[in-house]
Amino acid sequence: MSHIHDRVLILDFGSQFTQLIARRIREERVYCEIHPPTRSLEWIREWNPAAVILSGGPSSVYDDNVPTTNRELLHSGIPVLGICYGFHLIAHLEGAKVEHGRREYGRAELTVHVDEGVFAGFEPGESTTIWCSHGDHVDEPPPGYEALASTDTLPVAAFRALDRPVCAVQFHPEVAHTHRGDEILSNFLFEVAGCAATWTADAFIEDTIERIREQVGEASVICGLSGGVDSSVAALLVHRAIGDRLTCIFVDHGLLRKNEREQVETMFRSHYDIKLVVEDAQQGFLGDLAGISDPEAKRKAIGGRFIQVFEATAKREGTGATFLVQGTLYPDVIESVSVGGPSVTIKSHHNVGGLPEHMPFQLIEPLRELFKDEVRNVGRELGLPDHFVGRHPFPGPGLAIRIIGEITDERLSMLRDADAIYLEEIRSAGLYDEIWQAFAVLLPVQSVGVMGDARTYESVLALRAVTSRDGMTADWYPFPPEVLARISTRIINEVRGVNRVTYDISSKPPATIEWE
Ligand code: XMP
Repeated sequence: MSHIHDRVLILDFGSQFTQLIARRIREERVYCEIHPPTRSLEWIREWNPAAVILSGGPSSVYDDNVPTTNRELLHSGIPVLGICYGFHLIAHLEGAKVEHGRREYGRAELTVHVDEGVFAGFEPGESTTIWCSHGDHVDEPPPGYEALASTDTLPVAAFRALDRPVCAVQFHPEVAHTHRGDEILSNFLFEVAGCAATWTADAFIEDTIERIREQVGEASVICGLSGGVDSSVAALLVHRAIGDRLTCIFVDHGLLRKNEREQVETMFRSHYDIKLVVEDAQQGFLGDLAGISDPEAKRKAIGGRFIQVFEATAKREGTGATFLVQGTLYPDVIESVSVGGPSVTIKSHHNVGGLPEHMPFQLIEPLRELFKDEVRNVGRELGLPDHFVGRHPFPGPGLAIRIIGEITDERLSMLRDADAIYLEEIRSAGLYDEIWQAFAVLLPVQSVGVMGDARTYESVLALRAVTSRDGMTADWYPFPPEVLARISTRIINEVRGVNRVTYDISSKPPATIEWE
């Protein structure tokens, strides 16, 4: 590898903010990964982290069967930062008494006593707003440690070891409500752990190209291009690595948005010298989907057919490909792993899930370690035009999971037309880039209406628009009412079969972004 980056290991004790820790660290241009706390010390040593962060979590150190870590980690010379539960765990393992029951949830004022280490650049006695969520506390730091900061109710809100780079904070520096949280994390990375900020889009591109070359050797590769940012960036990276041993296959599964096939084809053929095959497989996909209403069954049917089409197309084109490129992202990978094992399957999606277990290709997933906005940065660096990099995400199964219930030609065309109007109006209101993702959903519900004095009994459409950073959590977008009014009027007037439009005002969680 041309770049050897410092890497931070985040042990995830189950906090809802663990991903945020990862994001903040990456923003400081330091590479990091999230792993379960069950990793052994040997495993950790081999992974060779420049620093380890013990995340927060819902447990209390005195509960039964709580996740823990090897105490030796704290004496291994590896810099360690404990956050919230991580703070209590270090206190407990190092012999401090962790007290139960003085709750500190939400905002608090932290007074810094030692302006060093994680608090370098603070003034002694200075007060700053922090955000806590824990019921436990410690009154005394462990032996061999000193207190660094306190709040009104917590005599020890941060401590550090006197002779090693091990420290802990009771609060959450990774959340925006902790005003100087970024500084505290960056102090840990650079002051305490001595990390180098080398994780840039450029460095990523170089490393990845080398890694792909190593993985692929002399073999050939196909890439299922969806027209989305992820698969496009993945394709460009592989193309840089192995040139025309890459064949991109754009499958028209009949579940695309209006004019999408033409747009993607034009964009690729006019900007890039990459072999591109556009495969019309509408009949096969729609045939497989006939009569299926269950969302998971839809995804499985689509995933299975995708592989068949890739295989047949790759053979017919004489590619001899043994590898398949996928635009899998980091949240897809961590969403399926949680403390102590795989979590409940919410949706089998994210490219990976829909694929059959046995398939004739090895996977190349060059974006497996990236968050969406990092992929966009890499895309820009690779020269993808801004309007393309900024495209809203579009799921692999396409409109299939936006038609609730059975998919028919008629319903597909209704949804396609409504969706096109919706996006057109969002663009002309200048709101497209403010929104993470916007789309229409066709419901299996008929409602009564009145049009030109006559009763109608037609379909209901839901509009969804959300803001998000990485698709893991999302808020519904507060459209100006006049924009919604225009969209609704146009859809009802122009799309035959729809007589009612509703706007989805649910956030994620508890809802998800897609309806299926
Ligand atoms: P949810 O609905 O899980 O969606 O909140 C989060 C993001 O993932 C996209 N999504 C998918 N992408 N195949 C994909 O490639 C799928 O089956 C799939 N399901 C959801 C969704 O559009 C959103 O951006």
